[in-house]
Amino acid sequence: MIGGGQLGRMFAQEAMNLEVEVHCLDGDALAPCANVAHGFTQGSIQDYESVLQFGRNFDTITVEMEHVSIEALSQLEREGKKVYPQPKVLSLIKDKGLQKQFYQRHGIPTANFCLLDTTENTLPMDLPLVQKLCVGGYDGKGIKVIRSMEAWEDRFKEASILEEMVAFNKELSVIIARNARGEVRSFGAVECEFNTEANLVEFQFSPADILPEIEQEAQAIARKIIETLDMVGILAVEFFLTKDGRLLVNEIAPRPHNSGHHTLECCITSQFAQHLRAISNLPLGDTMLRSPGAMVNILGEKGHEGVAKFEGLENVLKIPGAYVHLYGKQTTKPFRKMGHVTLLGKDLEEIKTKVNLVKRHFRCIATQE
Ligand SMILES: Nc1ncnc2c1ncn2[C@@H]1O[C@H](COP(=O)(O)OP(=O)(O)O)[C@@H](O)[C@H]1O
Ligand SMILES: [Mg+2]
Repeated sequence: MIGGGQLGRMFAQEAMNLEVEVHCLDGDALAPCANVAHGFTQGSIQDYESVLQFGRNFDTITVEMEHVSIEALSQLEREGKKVYPQPKVLSLIKDKGLQKQFYQRHGIPTANFCLLDTTENTLPMDLPLVQKLCVGGYDGKGIKVIRSMEAWEDRFKEASILEEMVAFNKELSVIIARNARGEVRSFGAVECEFNTEANLVEFQFSPADILPEIEQEAQAIARKIIETLDMVGILAVEFFLTKDGRLLVNEIAPRPHNSGHHTLECCITSQFAQHLRAISNLPLGDTMLRSPGAMVNILGEKGHEGVAKFEGLENVLKIPGAYVHLYGKQTTKPFRKMGHVTLLGKDLEEIKTKVNLVKRHFRCIATQE
């Protein structure tokens, strides 16, 4: 596993049940996987030599994020290693410009956009717009909303795309997996509630509150994407459901995803177990929803930076159907993903009440040290 964050940690926890050894590479000696994985190597995930040397020790290589040395992964693939998702898929997804062109080429619905010419000063599309860095953005970093000419003057000057501002009712996500023998299976759509200040998912719930036709269409689009990419592994597809009822693909991520954490308790197979099955060419697991549920991200409290401490754990553990996942990060900072809580319930109303309890009574702050 290239990367040793919380996604790798939950993946390693699942892999243990099938006696698969997971070794992680991460730049941070205190990364969430450091004391959980079978093996842990400290090294840069973006450095060609460190990824290459690390990867040579194993038979299958996977990633926890897109921002890794894809050149090293291509070399490992040439040396006969199984590298999933494939480096060519990572290259395409890593660049939001290439990603958008891929949708366009294959008739996959997506918001209107243009590649921004950094030498050009005139506004190429009507306001309001969303500017996104082609490379390097994540969790809302690398995104600017442009509503005025002042904001336009203050735009990113690096390679980026401009996208029309979408008037959406909901944000949905479908997680889908494919193994090397071409078997495909997806989880039901989840609905995401965003924290607009932090630009990341505050909580999500499933099943999504959408019409069956929309569910089917989202599933069909997700399948078309993973098959067209010829990808092996797990893929998250983020959608906008517009106010006039259209589905638009926002972006995709070729790995386990924040919007799929609920699968650990809500589904027969979790997204992490499914990823393992996919990259090991094992039969894909049943994705059926066992119970409606929600997932709340526990983000570092605003105004707190330093050694992490959780407050209110007992309050959460008292809630029936609550499952707490702390990621083992030593330090917190505002909006850093420090953990999540899954909440099961009989219906959305009950689940939302539990979500509010967690939001009110559980937080991650910094100690004074
Ligand atoms: N074109 C758009 N119109 C309206 N909101 C958008 C648009 N693009 C992104 N957003 C909002 O910003 C969030 C983050 O954007 P996204 O492209 O998913 O980047 P990230 O890589 O940070 O997840 C989206 O989930 C959505 O809430
Ligand atoms: Mg996103």
